[in-house]
Amino acid sequence: MNIKVNDNVTWVGKVDWELRKFHGEELSTFRGSSYNSYLVRDEKTALIDTVWMPFSKEYIEKLSAEIELDKIDYVIANHAEMDHSGALPALMEKIPGKPVYCTQNGIRSLKGHYHKDWNFIAVKTGDKLSLGRKELIFIEAKMLHWPDSMFTYLSGDNILFSNDAFGQHFANEMMFNDLVDEHELYEEAIKYYANILTPFANFIEQKINELLDLKLPVNMICPSHGIIWRNNPMQIINKYLEWARAYQENQITVVYDTMWNGTRQIAETIIDGIKSKDKKADIKLYNSARHDINTIITEIFKSKTVLIGSPTVNRGILISTAALIEFIKGLKFKNKNAAAFGSFGWSGESVKIITEELAEAGLEILNEGIKIQWHPGSEDLIKIFEYGRDLGDKIKEIAP
Ligand code: FEO
Repeated sequence: MNIKVNDNVTWVGKVDWELRKFHGEELSTFRGSSYNSYLVRDEKTALIDTVWMPFSKEYIEKLSAEIELDKIDYVIANHAEMDHSGALPALMEKIPGKPVYCTQNGIRSLKGHYHKDWNFIAVKTGDKLSLGRKELIFIEAKMLHWPDSMFTYLSGDNILFSNDAFGQHFANEMMFNDLVDEHELYEEAIKYYANILTPFANFIEQKINELLDLKLPVNMICPSHGIIWRNNPMQIINKYLEWARAYQENQITVVYDTMWNGTRQIAETIIDGIKSKDKKADIKLYNSARHDINTIITEIFKSKTVLIGSPTVNRGILISTAALIEFIKGLKFKNKNAAAFGSFGWSGESVKIITEELAEAGLEILNEGIKIQWHPGSEDLIKIFEYGRDLGDKIKEIAP
């Protein structure tokens, strides 16, 4: 069902309740997602973004029921990634020759994906397209989150169509932030930011400041995934600024993988040691082989301290730990302290490997970590507890 956003704007997208993985297998989407597409009617009509290719057929059918396709004057492609451009080939077959507005990088990317020579019109920040009484203003949003991304602003109604920025993978028919559970909405918004946007923090701060400098009033933010920010839309812009500035809460995240429970026991005993110094310490504990990696990444994003453990295997570390560290490296976290731990039977390289990798990832290393040979015995457990206790002292001094 299409949804009226206001008198001039209609949501014509697709809610994807079934989606559980996005970007191939990279991102979990426990609450599904939506591909938001918007029809803007004035004297001229513009269509902003489409939906993912598997939904092309039903998208075109639903759009045709909403408007005679020939009456669409302009197509706006805020971002070329296939979850937003996937229905363009089917649409452009129906309305060949209609102009497709996007950034120069958008043209490169759309041509690369679909190998079609549509009537592309490249736009840059400040370019305007009159719809009659109102106009669309284009704002390039490079690296928010890809080089081709842009925002489109509708004057008069003061709506920012922000594409991926400010979005969430959150399927919900209610569609507006004042109608959905705020806790669920923010859980998905921060997960989206932490897992996708963290590496681009500098660009994000700069872009948001540029946007604020334009002094465009914003009555609504319509992203291309999830819920529309209609009640106090500036809240998510301010939250992005907060998240982009080396965000951390007063939280410690401990992540381990284990073969015979030795490294798990080390993790739990370190936590006991930390708790002996700070009973209220907010500590989250995850087994990286058994827990969703995107949830772990979100918790790391929120943390000031990260402790990562793996036993030694084949002179290296377990696969889930390696995958987690690879993810952390790519995200370029700022303002995080870290230490490593692990058990070993024979050679014992894991703690050194993890420590070096985390340092390379840009985390500040708190100490040389702790490694225990064989399964922790009673003396080992005392040593681990004391290690945790000393670490607790150190962590307490780190201001969140
Ligand atoms: Fe970058 Fe939602 O695609």
